[in-house]
Amino acid sequence: MKTCLNIEQLRAQIQQWRADGERIAFVPTMGNLHEGHLSLVEIAQQKAARVVVSIYVNPLQFSPDEDFASYPRTLDDDLSKLEAMAVDLVFTPDDSMIYPEGEQQSTYVEVPQLSHIIEGEFRPGFFRGVATVVLKLFNMVQPDVAVFGEKDFQQLLVIRQMVKDLNLPVEIIGGQTKREADGLAKSSRNNYLSAAERESSRILSASLQACRHQIEQGVDVEQAENSCIKNLESHGFVVDYVTLRETSRLQKVSNDEVRAGCALVLLAAAKLGKTRLIDNIIFGSEA
Ligand code: PAF
Repeated sequence: MKTCLNIEQLRAQIQQWRADGERIAFVPTMGNLHEGHLSLVEIAQQKAARVVVSIYVNPLQFSPDEDFASYPRTLDDDLSKLEAMAVDLVFTPDDSMIYPEGEQQSTYVEVPQLSHIIEGEFRPGFFRGVATVVLKLFNMVQPDVAVFGEKDFQQLLVIRQMVKDLNLPVEIIGGQTKREADGLAKSSRNNYLSAAERESSRILSASLQACRHQIEQGVDVEQAENSCIKNLESHGFVVDYVTLRETSRLQKVSNDEVRAGCALVLLAAAKLGKTRLIDNIIFGSEA
């Protein structure tokens, strides 16, 4: 496995693979790799001869009150995991390579329709930061295909829309959310949970499943969302949102649309203590 610290080394290797006619798959990450990331690497390996993983904690997607400084950085451990999976190249740029003029002075990418709703309402600037860094990484790696987790469902749609709007020659693939045995979606931020919070955290996915069940049984959507919120609150969560949307533009859906059987995603974000968790369930006709 090669580790590239700079863009010149990365480009030289990519050019060589391209000259040999090899397809390249890419998995961008912020490190602290868990089974969820590794499952994206497995998908990438099925799609192309060469797999590149990037590890970069992107300052542009954190607001000043978020956890950029404390975000877990576990490079040695991450490299061992990727080596064990026989990843071809790991790209570990630093801020001066990605944002030579400083991240606030840099040209940015905005995906207007999807970036200011749901997660974007609670994390202004987040999707701008994600879209900007992903486009920069795409320009550096020039992959044929890139894989992103469905746990960050809105992020996946933002990236798909960016690729479409900017005519990027990259196929975007979503990888299914990996979960702990009790249902908690795997996430680097789960490490922040205390033992008691970790115990309660399973309620998030359980409540979403219960809400989905209610919706499938014909309960009014708003009523089902509200009872899910109440249930989470009764277990100590501070809820940002629980919302049912269609899966293409993340628009709200009426009870009639639900009955007609469109593809649906039930999205949630909630805090347990200081830890903010997100999760979703995709269901309905295309799930
Ligand atoms: O999902 C993530 O880990 C990040 O948002 C990404 C896509 C690597 C961009 O920094």
